[in-house]
Amino acid sequence: MRFTLAGIIPRQFVDELLTKVDVVEVINSRLPLKKKGHEYTACCPFHSEKTPSFSVSPSKQFYHCFGCGVNGSAISFLMEYEHYDFIEAVEQLASDIGLEVPREQGKLVDPKKIERQKDHYELLEAVAQFYQQHLQVSDIAKDYLQQRDLSSNVASHFGLGFIPEGWDLLSQRFVPEYTAQQLIDTGLLIEKDEGGAYDRFRDRIMFPIRDTRGRVIGFGGRVLGDGMPKYLNSPETEIFHKGMELYGLYEARKASRKLTRIIVVEGYMDVIALAQFDINNAVATLGTATTKDHIRQIFRTVDEVVFCFDGDRAGRDAAWKALKNVIPEVRDGKEIYFNFLPDGEDPDSQVRKIGKNLFNQSLSEASISLTDYLIQHLQENYNLSSREGSVRFIDEVIKLLAHLSEGLIKDQLLDEVSRLTSIKVDVIRKKMLTNDAPQVQNFSQQGSQAVRLSPVRYAASLLLHDTSLVAAVEDSEQISQTGIKGADFLATLIETIEENPNINGAGIVERWRGTAYEIACLDLMKWQPSFQDQTMLKNEFMGCLQNIIEKSRQQRLECLLQKARNESLDAMEKKDLLTLLSQ
Ligand code: UTP
Ligand code: MN
Repeated sequence: MRFTLAGIIPRQFVDELLTKVDVVEVINSRLPLKKKGHEYTACCPFHSEKTPSFSVSPSKQFYHCFGCGVNGSAISFLMEYEHYDFIEAVEQLASDIGLEVPREQGKLVDPKKIERQKDHYELLEAVAQFYQQHLQVSDIAKDYLQQRDLSSNVASHFGLGFIPEGWDLLSQRFVPEYTAQQLIDTGLLIEKDEGGAYDRFRDRIMFPIRDTRGRVIGFGGRVLGDGMPKYLNSPETEIFHKGMELYGLYEARKASRKLTRIIVVEGYMDVIALAQFDINNAVATLGTATTKDHIRQIFRTVDEVVFCFDGDRAGRDAAWKALKNVIPEVRDGKEIYFNFLPDGEDPDSQVRKIGKNLFNQSLSEASISLTDYLIQHLQENYNLSSREGSVRFIDEVIKLLAHLSEGLIKDQLLDEVSRLTSIKVDVIRKKMLTNDAPQVQNFSQQGSQAVRLSPVRYAASLLLHDTSLVAAVEDSEQISQTGIKGADFLATLIETIEENPNINGAGIVERWRGTAYEIACLDLMKWQPSFQDQTMLKNEFMGCLQNIIEKSRQQRLECLLQKARNESLDAMEKKDLLTLLSQ
């Protein structure tokens, strides 16, 4: 998804942007940096640590944490730190320096894919209408909704529908206007092994699932009676990703411009029942656990979220799973609560029982904060009156908090853990550090790291560090022809810089976002030369190139000598060998 989005903004603009913004300023305005040599450092905002291993390089326009390994450009920083998506990050940076973001709609994105997706949205919308029409004329479906006390108002607000029993109702209605393949690709039909396809949803109440722009992207379907499975959902498709989307978020945003809190419930019916009672800020996951992408979506809209789950075993398990998944998203200024309903109730039944006001009151008064819940849950599972129990408790806390950002929330949690276990905060912090001891060597503190890189990798790191070194390359073709491992990559890097003389290391990484080359670059960007002198950099770089060519000469020579020993060389090969030997 990042890749498609990235395509909509012209690459040249992203390159230009990354040469104009200063990653040091971008980060420093959010996380104060200290100058240290040629770089800037701070305690990493993405993992817990006491001594700074987060370093920002002004020359590369790149940050890197030697503790947890996160790294990237100013764009990546905003994506990680502010939870922006790619486009939002680019827009923010551009507006910071007064640039307008140009768009080239779909030019770099596969135009066929866009066209196909457009058809998919149209098709799903038409199918949603089709289901709604069926509901209008089906007495059993209408009876079912009535029996569940759903008003026709709220049912139509959420676009509920119905599909009667049948194996080919959709293809009868939508083929040939759309192809059967399109119905399969959108998850509406299931393909048979022996060919042909049949309707996925049969004899079910249908819940259209919308994205935040209001487009139908999939469906949930409930049986009318006690059949199994109770709910059936659309499968993952090109446009439907269960780990990203939330049922009801579009409707909640539409209901109020000033949402302050979002309630996460477990079921579609819960969202709808709450809406019927004028509680319009509930969303549900799509039959999956809450992911950190879900919470990011929510935090883009509001600062407070309450998970409202059943009080039974399954609800508590879901809550604990949600807690574990959302910990990396916990930030000062964002609030996460858990609210457990009485055993046997879900939000649907509870709101019908106690009404809107008491329900809301209970959310405000009987919810437990994420941190309290975390402590409470662990306390129930470990015996803190024994030393062994305390240590195991601490181990668990450390595991959970490894991904929690630094801030007041973390400080308070650690204070509490310390109070409960009588182990000093310093000691816990220290243990946290040794637990996630840096896996990556701090290259900049080991000037001689370069010797451990192969000449190809060393040359590439130098180029990423200072792209102007490309001027020293005489013939990139020659390098790609050497056949040495990684030479193609180096040659591509050289060509990319030659074609875009102003690009810097960060720009190159952005250009290759989502590809194998991005990963290769990120790895090489970790390296920081121990010298800054331009002449020295150039000498090192030229040395590498010579090395590469020499290495390839050696390889060819060995190969020919080997062949001469075992079989005979032809005239060309003999000539080659003589030239190689005379060099
Ligand atoms: P529940 O079983 O709690 O259902 O599942 P519910 O929301 O209370 O529904 P009603 O009141 O019985 O109609 C909660 C959610 O879990 C997913 C669905 O998303 C459902 O809304 N689920 C449940 C499935 O995906 N498949 C199932 O078979 C059951
Ligand atoms: Mn229910």
